[in-house]
Amino acid sequence: MHYFEYKDNELCCEEVPVRKIAESVGTPFYLYSYRTLARHFSVFDKAFGEFPHIVCFSVKANSNLAVLSLFASMGGGADIVSCGELFRALKAGMDPKKIVFSGVGKTEEEIQWALKEGILIFNIESEEELRKIDSVAGRMKTKAAVALRVNPDVDPKTHPYIATGLKKSKFGIAFEKAYQQYQEARSLQHIEILGVDCHIGSQLTEVSPFVDALKKLKELVLRLRKEGIDIRYLDLGGGLGITYDEEKPPDPAEYAQALIEEMKDLHCTLILEPGRVIVGNAGVLVTRVLYNKDGDGRHFVIVDAGMNDLIRPSLYGAFQEIVPVRCKEKEKKVVTDVVGPICESGDFLAKDRALPELKAGELLAVMSAGAYGFAMSSNYNSRRRVAEVLVRDDRFEVVRARETYEDLIRGESIPEWIKT
Ligand code: LLP
Repeated sequence: MHYFEYKDNELCCEEVPVRKIAESVGTPFYLYSYRTLARHFSVFDKAFGEFPHIVCFSVKANSNLAVLSLFASMGGGADIVSCGELFRALKAGMDPKKIVFSGVGKTEEEIQWALKEGILIFNIESEEELRKIDSVAGRMKTKAAVALRVNPDVDPKTHPYIATGLKKSKFGIAFEKAYQQYQEARSLQHIEILGVDCHIGSQLTEVSPFVDALKKLKELVLRLRKEGIDIRYLDLGGGLGITYDEEKPPDPAEYAQALIEEMKDLHCTLILEPGRVIVGNAGVLVTRVLYNKDGDGRHFVIVDAGMNDLIRPSLYGAFQEIVPVRCKEKEKKVVTDVVGPICESGDFLAKDRALPELKAGELLAVMSAGAYGFAMSSNYNSRRRVAEVLVRDDRFEVVRARETYEDLIRGESIPEWIKT
């Protein structure tokens, strides 16, 4: 469900024609719908009703300050994996007591900063990290609240690059070792054990892997409690999928009901770290056709956005729907590769896609680009990162300016001795 639709044959974001925004800000740009963002957050949050829970939006999916501050205003917290994300979450007004810090490689500096800000919990991914956090907290004469991220070894049935809960994955602590690691954590002076955590993968389209993981975590919580280790938070990570093409993921209500059913006698606050399901379909990438070209048996449409702007198709072979901004539904379709200007054969947004004939200057929208779109963009080929625009009803605002050429070389310098 989203608020991008054709009105009078023109694609609009809420009440604003996309063409109008393109005329004002140029292309390419990311475009987000406030109404969709707010609706998705609220539907997700409300699905858990009165059940004690915290929705910690996964900042890596979309880290724009305006987006984060909307979720903060709706009572959301943040799942972060770096101090850059911590910085953003705090700037956006998120309550540190609703921030969870995940990730396999937290540095000492990051641990220190997060402790100083008083975040809710560190999700710990290894024994060495546990000891590091204990020693940093000791030096700061404080205690670090932690959960151990356990690896429940369930198959999320998703793309291998985004499956994280299998035994072979670099993430988390092996389920069999978790119990012993908790014992060890208990013996550390500057560690306060608060929870258990897992995240099994992303773009899951079934509820059962979540329930399987939850069952395992529950078993661990009960065992730990018997030993007098009180667990108050259970963090199930993110991962709920969206429809890019024909996927039929469970809706948040079905997902929430299944989790609540498992959790109901556990007396734990549930932490959720959704990313994609909240922002994915709330954003599009708008790009302009530069040229048409016929190769050997292939038709190419070359557009002004490339893999540096949206890497998902190149990196994961991900499908993202592409639609013309001026509706051409009735026109004859041509099998087309939509490619970018980057010097890489892997630079494509779509392959073998049935699209109407597209002339230079026409606008296209790459749908479902609100998650892992701008957030994964880069300056490859010295391309400036694009603008981000937010629409609310009939108004729009640039919430991140397109980078300038000066931005591209910020911090670079030429040593005097290079010329001698
Ligand atoms: N929590 C943790 C610890 C995570 O690693 C992730 C995502 C999330 C939460 C949020 O997952 P979500 O609800 O968005 O599925 N770049 C890939 C996705 C990578 C996901 C990484 N971790 C893509 O574009 O599909």
